[in-house]
Amino acid sequence: MQFKLSAFGDRYATPSGITALMDDLGRAMSGHTDMFMLGGGNPAHIPAVEAVWRQRIGEILADGRAFDTMLGDYDTPQGNTGFLDDVVAFLNRRYGWGISVDNVAITNGAQTALFCLMNFFSGPAVDGKQRRVLFPLMPEYIGYADQALDPKAYTARLPRIEECDDGHTFKYHIDFDTLELSNEIGAVCISRPCNPTGNVLSDGEVAELANRTAARNIPLIVDNAYGAPFPGILFTEATPPWGEHTILTFSLSKLGLPSTRTGIVVGPTQIISALTSMNSVLSLASGGIGQAVVRPLLRNDAILDLCRESIRPFYEAKSLQAQAWIREAFGNDIDYRVHKSEGALFLWVWLKGLPIPARKLYERLKARGVLIVPGEFFVFGLDAPWPHASECFRMTYSQADHHVKAGIDLIADEVRRVYRGAPAV
Ligand SMILES: Cc1ncc(COP(=O)(O)O)c(C=O)c1O
Repeated sequence: MQFKLSAFGDRYATPSGITALMDDLGRAMSGHTDMFMLGGGNPAHIPAVEAVWRQRIGEILADGRAFDTMLGDYDTPQGNTGFLDDVVAFLNRRYGWGISVDNVAITNGAQTALFCLMNFFSGPAVDGKQRRVLFPLMPEYIGYADQALDPKAYTARLPRIEECDDGHTFKYHIDFDTLELSNEIGAVCISRPCNPTGNVLSDGEVAELANRTAARNIPLIVDNAYGAPFPGILFTEATPPWGEHTILTFSLSKLGLPSTRTGIVVGPTQIISALTSMNSVLSLASGGIGQAVVRPLLRNDAILDLCRESIRPFYEAKSLQAQAWIREAFGNDIDYRVHKSEGALFLWVWLKGLPIPARKLYERLKARGVLIVPGEFFVFGLDAPWPHASECFRMTYSQADHHVKAGIDLIADEVRRVYRGAPAV
């Protein structure tokens, strides 16, 4: 039996490539504890950080009233009023932005906020014209790909590729010479640090994007899921931008709290008010547990120490270690380059001249017990396929060391087999 669905229902009832891939990753993992999961985006379990969250839950439990309120009351659709005040005070102290509570809304994860934003700025507009969200630097976060309801919602630009002198590193740059913001562009969006590549656009590049979007009176959406000031998984200097054309999304997930589903949006009052309405329509209010857990750490700035002393060094060491293992395992016979690792949880590996598409390499690796995400899935909004993406894959280095090392060794072995023309196992 098949119901007749609306275009909206059909959009999600028909599995897209990405939902099928995610499902595949999930199924491959379930019941296979010997699988090396380098495919997902789960944050690591960092003991020093987990201890802080455990202590906070203990404090909330010990204060009966705080516990009962946290579980038993809906917050306002904009967020918990105390948490909103603390976010505003924290960001103003840290960056001197001069924002007010009308500039902040809480959502059930940054993902939900981004779903709303993608649809606020793409599709048919009130003036009847079609608007699109521009991604100025492909590849981009897989999670945006299926968010927009309008099939023509996205447009994207390819990067300028810098191959670094060391022979095994590269970096993507926005090609500002060809980047034009035509009238159909409703917003520009970047993740910073970028998931999947680990790229971090410099403050200068972000300022250039901000100037260009402001000149067109459209917003620049900066997805800060890994960025400053929290979780601060940044191995280079980067300050979040702020201005009347900027929309910043933050998340508590990569602080080690993904299951609290807490996103924070800082933006112009018009957009915060629209997000607040969306919250009340979609979910009445956002979950309050993450807000209650993190609140005192914003108040006394302890969150900054936690990020600086425990989170950033943990991921930076993991990234360097994974790169060293790649160098060791790939040697000089595999023609590979790893994107400069400047933040986030991933390495983006380019296998130059790979004789099969990355999608096929993914299948072959899955059969050998290691999961990666093939590059093709991080590319959307383009008019034509981009062969470069089929030579790339994303792997996370946030998992246990022995998994990462064993996964990398298997990848190197399978890549050599592919180059030799050996069949899949
Ligand atoms: C770049 C990026 N943006 C947004 C999100 C969504 O985060 P949340 O868990 O807050 O919904 C993620 C999650 O992995 C991400 O990688």
